[in-house]
Amino acid sequence: MSYRSARSLYNNIANKYHDNRSKATNDVTELPTVLYLLGDLKNKQLLDMGCGLGKHAKEFVKRGAIVTGYDTSEKMVKLSQEYCSGKGTFLRATHESVSFGFNSFDVVNASYTIGYSNKLDLIFSKVHSWLKPGGIFTFSIPHPLWLLTRVEKMDYSKPHKVQIKVDSYGIDLFNYYYPLDTYIQVINKNNFLLRNLIESKISRRLKGWPEEKYRIPNAFVFKVEKSS
Ligand SMILES: C[S@@+](CC[C@H](N)C(=O)[O-])C[C@H]1O[C@@H](n2cnc3c(N)ncnc32)[C@H](O)[C@@H]1O
Repeated sequence: MSYRSARSLYNNIANKYHDNRSKATNDVTELPTVLYLLGDLKNKQLLDMGCGLGKHAKEFVKRGAIVTGYDTSEKMVKLSQEYCSGKGTFLRATHESVSFGFNSFDVVNASYTIGYSNKLDLIFSKVHSWLKPGGIFTFSIPHPLWLLTRVEKMDYSKPHKVQIKVDSYGIDLFNYYYPLDTYIQVINKNNFLLRNLIESKISRRLKGWPEEKYRIPNAFVFKVEKSS
């Protein structure tokens, strides 16, 4: 089954996504990487874009951040509210339409969500305006290698919309693929400085995961800083 909008997609799979929560590879790869990159979050004003089930938000709250999250799917917003036990503020909104005041946040995080938008430049310019000077933006995208076996005739040569086969959900999930150099251009154009980039994968210290998950990274996690 394939969906036209991220809202209908995630409203539809919200319950299954919720039930599969404990099996997620990201809990031992992308999420700890984001937390490592962000460091001390005590009393930081933090925005979590496309907050999904609220897994990241819960960890941010636990570390003392004052969290605002939003998601295009009302079901995901509700799940985030429940998962964070009412701590944090969660709204239904989209990357394209949401607005916050200038210099509102110390930190903005966007885990696996900006690839649902074809407005990459708009997103970066909005995040830049919401961040305080020196503020940090972390964002993660599916690792390009991960797409190789899930997208038919994956074309890495240009930005375009892809359909990704997700067998565990029996769905085709759409995403906009952007080559790495597109991210570097949009980072530079919007006055961010690239501070770090990590390919997240499972540590060999954790036993019991499928063998390829130790060898093949599942995400690129970027850390950029508002420079001016
Ligand atoms: C793969 S999930 C990631 C959820 C969460 N960030 C995480 O990493 O666990 C993508 C999330 O982005 C949300 N999303 C997709 N497009 C969006 C948009 N244009 N505006 C706001 N949220 C969006 C979806 O509803 C979904 O909850």
